[in-house]
Amino acid sequence: MSEYAAHVREVEAACTRALEHTVEARDGFDSIVFHAGTASVYHGDDLEVPFRANTHFLRFGWIEGPGHLIVFRPGERTRLVRQVESDFWYAPSAPLDSEIGEAFEVIETDDAASEVIEMSALGRRAFIGDDAELARILGIESAACDPAALIAALDWERAFKTDHEVACVREANRIAAHGHEAVRGAIQDGASEFELHLEYLATTAQTDDALPYPNIIAWDEAAAVLHYQHRRRSEPDPARVLLIDAGARYRGYAADVTRTWCLDPAANDAFRALLTGMEELKRGLADAVAPGVDFVDLHRRAEHGIAERLREVGVLRCSEEEARAQGLLFAFFPHGLGHPLGLQTHDVGGQQADPAGTPRPPPDDCPHLRNTRVLAPRHVVTIEPGLYFIPSLLDPLRGRDTVDWHLLDTLLPFGGIRIEDDVVVTDTGNENLTRPFLP
Ligand code: GLY
Repeated sequence: MSEYAAHVREVEAACTRALEHTVEARDGFDSIVFHAGTASVYHGDDLEVPFRANTHFLRFGWIEGPGHLIVFRPGERTRLVRQVESDFWYAPSAPLDSEIGEAFEVIETDDAASEVIEMSALGRRAFIGDDAELARILGIESAACDPAALIAALDWERAFKTDHEVACVREANRIAAHGHEAVRGAIQDGASEFELHLEYLATTAQTDDALPYPNIIAWDEAAAVLHYQHRRRSEPDPARVLLIDAGARYRGYAADVTRTWCLDPAANDAFRALLTGMEELKRGLADAVAPGVDFVDLHRRAEHGIAERLREVGVLRCSEEEARAQGLLFAFFPHGLGHPLGLQTHDVGGQQADPAGTPRPPPDDCPHLRNTRVLAPRHVVTIEPGLYFIPSLLDPLRGRDTVDWHLLDTLLPFGGIRIEDDVVVTDTGNENLTRPFLP
């Protein structure tokens, strides 16, 4: 059996377990209809918004475009109802990949799906998707659309990646690494953020629409903006530091990779020491990924490492506890250590305690931590410690004697540091999916 065929069997087994949870939750569904989604247009326009499929549908395979259905009932062959275009404005749909064709009973139609499947044979069916009108046409009651118990169980299952999924994230990392290397080569010439973005797209052979998330390519003080969205066309002056957070997608699966490069030979000693320290910290945290590790504890270890490095260079003049109590730790590291990664860059289910969907929220002092799960084999997570000089977070704290503000002011032009790898939990430890391609 091919890796992909085995993946489909595992996804079907996960769906069966998810249906069993709905019985426990007294929703009790017999089958699931997954909808890829519906194309939409910009307001008042006839141009379509770039389409992204519902990722619960997409888990079955890299099937492009809107309108398709996966019809799943335990014990029966899963059906793919594939919408094929018959519209002279657009090229016909590309042929279905043969591996996908073999994995399902494929029904191709340019008609309404309701006419090609016998819905009553599916028993009590749930609909996963956001097209309530289609669900109604398929005879599915609104209470059975995205039912909470089923979504929670499917989200929980999504954390456990199959071999095929890990291979896809690994390949996405290989592609992203080419882009990172190309950008690293181009920064010596003082290329603009816009030019570096184009270099990244060309090297990874991706269009903007295909990226798993918008590239973050930030020179100097812009590195302090966590989701910096501009692409300045001017040459950086003086081009001290480049932070690049850029990924790739392969068969739907994301890579999410960040590097910070310091170019300025005259950069202040404190910044250089912090950059070296953050590289070491990221390596240590990535190496610590293992089954049974509570991700909240790993986040705490990241906070500890960041506080220690700030104390070593003299920015912080207090204990870690004091820095936490004063809100300084949050100001320097306001995001979480990482998140689940998969079909979504911020993949689902990261804050669940169990398949029933019991919430496991992050601690109050790190509200943006997206993963609070205890790591288990086959989880894929990002490890991305960051340290920033963000004026809007630091200015309200000015005046406290727990920070060397004079030294801090010399660091503001360097923006910040983030270094990020993607890591899969194995039975005994982990495999770093980024480092082999981007040492
Ligand atoms: N790398 C983008 C993000 O995690 O938000």
